Amino acid sequence: MGFYSRYVLPHIVSCGCALPQIAELRRAVVPQAKGVVLEIGFGSGLNLPFYRVDRVRRVYAMEPDLAMLNKARRLIASSAVPVRVLQERAETLSLGDRSVDTVVVTFTLCTVPDVGAALCNARRVLKPGGRLLFCEHGRSPDAAVYRRQVRIEPVWKRLFGGCHLTRDIPALLRQSGFSIDLLEDYDMSNGGLRIGSYLYRGSASAAA
Ligand SMILES: C[S@@+](CC[C@H](N)C(=O)[O-])C[C@H]1O[C@@H](n2cnc3c(N)ncnc32)[C@H](O)[C@@H]1O
Repeated sequence: MGFYSRYVLPHIVSCGCALPQIAELRRAVVPQAKGVVLEIGFGSGLNLPFYRVDRVRRVYAMEPDLAMLNKARRLIASSAVPVRVLQERAETLSLGDRSVDTVVVTFTLCTVPDVGAALCNARRVLKPGGRLLFCEHGRSPDAAVYRRQVRIEPVWKRLFGGCHLTRDIPALLRQSGFSIDLLEDYDMSNGGLRIGSYLYRGSASAAA
């Protein structure tokens, strides 16, 4: 791992994820979590203040990157909900089958290398009736924006730790055996390049 990935990138990612408009999205998604929660790609822990202490028994904070976990330590230490850190990857998740009530994933499915394997694991660990709550950016339905996303993605991935711009989040969820219960998708931005601003937010459960 080079200097950029070890020291610069975690700082850029956690600053980008801490933008006020992103906090508003977290506020709409994370408080719906209940019971035992698995958060995939915990990052610097920015969802933690949004978990409701009266609904959540424990959060498994899964994050492979030690630099991100170090940034999360202060929030973990002051968290009202119990947190257990799992320093591992979603593709090789060690939690048992049907062991969690809610999976939370925000701004992470863009980055996980094998997103299909990660989502299959998310489905595997959910208890019957459990829900996956998501808020992710991805492929724009606007053809001109999508063409830009495709053009810029190779450089973007190198700059931002493997982050993809063109992932079709609803399609990936369905391909991994989820049925989508609620989906809101919209462009957060009115102007600019709009390459990273198309959002998919909602909830899914294991397809019957
Ligand atoms: C853009 S950050 C988002 C962090 C956090 N979810 C948030 O909303 O602020 C993406 C995170 O996914 C993590 N990640 C990358 N590959 C992963 C994998 N294979 N499994 C789980 N997390 C992964 C990265 O280390 C990073 O912390």
